[in-house]
Amino acid sequence: MRYDDITDVIGNTPLIRIDPAVHGLANIDLYAKMEMLNPFGSVKDRAAWAMARPLLAGARERGDTMVELSSGNTAKALAVIAGRHGLPFKSVTNRMKVPEIKELLLLLGAAIEELPGQAECLDPTDTEDPLTRMHQRLASTGTGYVHTDQYFNELNMEAHRLGTGPEIIKDLDGRAPDYFVACVGTAGSSGGVARALREHTPDTRVIGLVAGKNDFIPGIRTIDEVHEVGLFDPDVYDSLETVTAHEAIEGLLSLVRRSGILAGPTGGGAYFGALRHLRTVDAGLTERRTAVFIVCDRVESYLSYLRSRRPDLFALPARPDSVDTVTAAEALSAPAIGVAEARMWTGLVVDLRGPHAFRALHIDGSVNITDDVFAAMLAGGLPFSKSRPVLLVCPLGERSARYTALLRRMGHPSVFSLSGGVIAWRDAGAELVRD
Ligand SMILES: Cc1ncc(COP(=O)(O)O)c(C=O)c1O
Repeated sequence: MRYDDITDVIGNTPLIRIDPAVHGLANIDLYAKMEMLNPFGSVKDRAAWAMARPLLAGARERGDTMVELSSGNTAKALAVIAGRHGLPFKSVTNRMKVPEIKELLLLLGAAIEELPGQAECLDPTDTEDPLTRMHQRLASTGTGYVHTDQYFNELNMEAHRLGTGPEIIKDLDGRAPDYFVACVGTAGSSGGVARALREHTPDTRVIGLVAGKNDFIPGIRTIDEVHEVGLFDPDVYDSLETVTAHEAIEGLLSLVRRSGILAGPTGGGAYFGALRHLRTVDAGLTERRTAVFIVCDRVESYLSYLRSRRPDLFALPARPDSVDTVTAAEALSAPAIGVAEARMWTGLVVDLRGPHAFRALHIDGSVNITDDVFAAMLAGGLPFSKSRPVLLVCPLGERSARYTALLRRMGHPSVFSLSGGVIAWRDAGAELVRD
């Protein structure tokens, strides 16, 4: 196989049958669409190239910088494409949460701008959010930026409607699968493939997977965030289901250990979610059915993510005082106080947000300990005296609830979470100060 350009290798990824002895479904043939085999390593290579390609003409001559609001695979693919075409690339994000991906982006020559955003992903309706303001700035012309705009760019979806979807049909001998399962980030891949499959066979069932509330699976949205994304259309999905980080890792382990597929957490999540859904229909089937799920990227970039959640996999001792051990139910029942009560708080206030966000606006008198530093402190035991009341603060009150649950479990009797976080504080008109 000979190619003139690395971008010619994007797409035409294999469809691999999962051994029924491994997945255990009696009446359904299950296939993995191997998007991890794209040249820059993920499903986002297709979207990145489709979005960047029409913007390249004249960009280098104008001295433009390519820019995208991404902290993951889209940024990675665009960094390579920009470099290949002589453009600088800048990734704008609220927070880079996966260290290997941040390091890889820097290695690829990307500049990274971490903004003090409120949530992890863009919320276009929140005009106060610096990430939203950055997005609006990029939308105005003459900025010196080439903005691929993955959250709103139809070419993101078209790359999959015209590429990934038809490839699946071709590899299934001209038939659309009965079930299609994919994790949802921008919704480009799931939405685009769904369109192609339904244009061929309107009753193809589409299952979208997102992370649960308060959970984190790198690359995809939580059930709360997903509706904020521009391309997301709830009508695309017959069913929108959640997977936990723990389930995604279980799926990943089965793929890497039993199927020879070195999938990352969202590939694992799609596999786990596909099996859970398909098991509910499998027994009642009288004819064979076909299902396809997407393997978005590879496992190697997520070793630190896996290590922190499953130290046992790395022959490390379990970390009972890790926030990753806090269940959603524990977080929901963690003691919290509202803004009115918090305004009269006299104890310590710990703000868990990133330093940019803290500097921009914070509760007067609070101290800033970012949640990753806080997590490391807790590994050594309780960092505060039990007699000292502590109020934990984060953007929306979700991270702080998890840490509150953990600190209570560790024996601290008077730690609370600020319900609704800094956003609730701001919305109530309470004072925030700036450094
Ligand atoms: C690892 C991973 N999985 C899944 C997705 C979801 O893809 P999409 O944005 O097409 O919904 C992404 C998107 O960035 C991703 O990085």
